[in-house]
Amino acid sequence: MKSIRILITLLAALPALVWAASAEINYDMEAFEGDLENKPSLQSGMRTYMNYCLGCHTLKFQRYERSADDLGIPHEIALQNLILTDQKIGGLITNAMSPEKAKSWFGAAPPDLTMITRYKSPEYVYNYLKAFYVDHNRPFGVNNKVFENVGLPNALLDLQGVQRSRCDDAADARCDELYLEEGTGSMSPEEFDAAVYDLTNFLYYVGEPSRLERHRLGIAVMLFLVILACFTYLLNREYWKDVH
Ligand code: HEC
Repeated sequence: MKSIRILITLLAALPALVWAASAEINYDMEAFEGDLENKPSLQSGMRTYMNYCLGCHTLKFQRYERSADDLGIPHEIALQNLILTDQKIGGLITNAMSPEKAKSWFGAAPPDLTMITRYKSPEYVYNYLKAFYVDHNRPFGVNNKVFENVGLPNALLDLQGVQRSRCDDAADARCDELYLEEGTGSMSPEEFDAAVYDLTNFLYYVGEPSRLERHRLGIAVMLFLVILACFTYLLNREYWKDVH
């Protein structure tokens, strides 16, 4: 009896513990809703990933071929535009960076990102990519609101431009906010948001490539059950017709 009571207390306290563990990020995160039906978004995200992230981060549990097929990209186009190394279409999405060297350059080896949206969350990735700002106290002169004291500069700086934190001005009450130095990025803020959305959407897909298939299969199974129920009902009526 006593052990059951302890168990119930522990279970009741679980949400609070989980909340405490995840409450480290002291930043107002924007919501993120993935959309796996949006193929153009996933294709654009994959292109951005190959150009700006793969140099450091592998997706070593995913193959090019699977991504190309799921995202509706013909193999020749994938080979010409997305596979920037001499890898084959059936190969895993890896790079040539040695983890030891990376560690000495950045202080930490870049993690594989196949599972990042599951390990953290899609919101985390989406907000992280938008939250770099100038901080002269850091080795590379940048910091990040979502990943404090991050060990690398903003990989999308050219696209986004230079962001600063209002905390630089101690008198500013909206200290948490970031603002953009206009004209420093090649994309407008809306274009950049869309690009980061697509990139996160792609990583959301990579985290569980069969999610889309599972949804489709789920709908097919439900339809099958509805049709089966109709026939069962008719059969049932047929059986009982003559009983009275
Ligand atoms: C120059 C190499 C480099 C590039 C390019 C790069 N990253 Fe990183 N990234 C790193 C390193 C190193 C870390 C680990 C930082 C640390 O632990 O301080 C990291 C960390 C991360 C994290 C946080 C992981 C965690 O466990 O919280 C995410 C998410 C991430 N990168 C996504 C990306 C995406 C998406 C791109 C492409 C736009 C990208 N990175 C481009 C080197 C890079």
